Amino acid sequence: MSLITRLETDKNLTDSELRALLETDAHDDELREAADRVRRSVYGEDVYIRGLIEFTNCCKNDCYYCGIRRSNKNAERYRLSREEILECCAEGYDLGFRTFVLQGGEDPHYSDELICRIVSDIRKNYPDCAITLSIGEKSREGYKAYFDAGADRYLLRHETADAEHYSRLHPASMSLDNRKRCLFDLKEIGYQVGSGFMVGSPYQTTDNLISDLKFLKQLGPHMIGIGPYITHADTPFKEFKSGSLELCLRLISILRLMFPEALIPATTALGTIHPLGREMGLKAGANVVMPNLSPVSVRKKYELYENKICTGEEAAECRGCLERRVEAAGYRVVTDRGDNIAFRK
Ligand code: 5AD
Ligand code: FES
Repeated sequence: MSLITRLETDKNLTDSELRALLETDAHDDELREAADRVRRSVYGEDVYIRGLIEFTNCCKNDCYYCGIRRSNKNAERYRLSREEILECCAEGYDLGFRTFVLQGGEDPHYSDELICRIVSDIRKNYPDCAITLSIGEKSREGYKAYFDAGADRYLLRHETADAEHYSRLHPASMSLDNRKRCLFDLKEIGYQVGSGFMVGSPYQTTDNLISDLKFLKQLGPHMIGIGPYITHADTPFKEFKSGSLELCLRLISILRLMFPEALIPATTALGTIHPLGREMGLKAGANVVMPNLSPVSVRKKYELYENKICTGEEAAECRGCLERRVEAAGYRVVTDRGDNIAFRK
């Protein structure tokens, strides 16, 4: 039986088998074809869209890879008010979005109370929409309060499942243990949970990637976001090269085979390292795209990495652009909440 058939049926390869898939391009065509077949058997041609609202680029953390880290004095900081966030949702709703993703740095200005107020306003105005939060590590009580206010989903990448690697990407004030605690709390509370990691981050080894896959198996996420690490000149990692498109696509296919029901985005980072990166991501097994809904005036400032796409005036309409791209790749954008199969009513 081929490695890929084994991955598709057992979903549990040995470390050396995973290594064989990850370290060469020998299996790429077969992997991609199997991933697309599995994706079509579970979700058909559907591609789900999420309206991404990047509501603050202020952050109390100092992750070494990230352009909005606290120590980056060149970042021009902004915060959207509750009213501005609600305006983004109104615009998004008219464009057909039925999921809003509120993403931001870890910004203490947005207290748990304020987040709850924003969430409950969106919940009241748009009872048919899913609300996704992506605002980092919080207390279990905080997560529970947002959930009770109406949030349905939470995105928090684990970034790397190896504690030693984690400590090379983050300052000592952060820990893999706390990140994991957050993810398991979120799951227990009842969120649809998304996790994931960067591909090609500094010091990353194949063993680290194998640990990432195993950790995800243990977590059982509903959504998995991965994208290439991309260099940012205003970070301590400015000398490191960006991650590779090929390895990222290979991992998307492996994830699709290991997690047939997962919602997997073709990320903006993928579209940034290659003009057709997102289309290639979809063909490799991804089934979600996240067009930018942030006001054009702040888009350039939410610069996690360099040359991020969809930040110029010409990109005021990501929704239409992505729809055309999805269709050109052979899939179809659908306007509904796009829940994980396990959460459909
Ligand atoms: N390159 C690619 N992805 C990055 N992220 C943060 N900084 C970078 C970078 N330089 C990713 C992290 C984070 C997500 C919101 O963006 O994985 O979880
Ligand atoms: Fe944003 Fe094309 S998806 S401009």
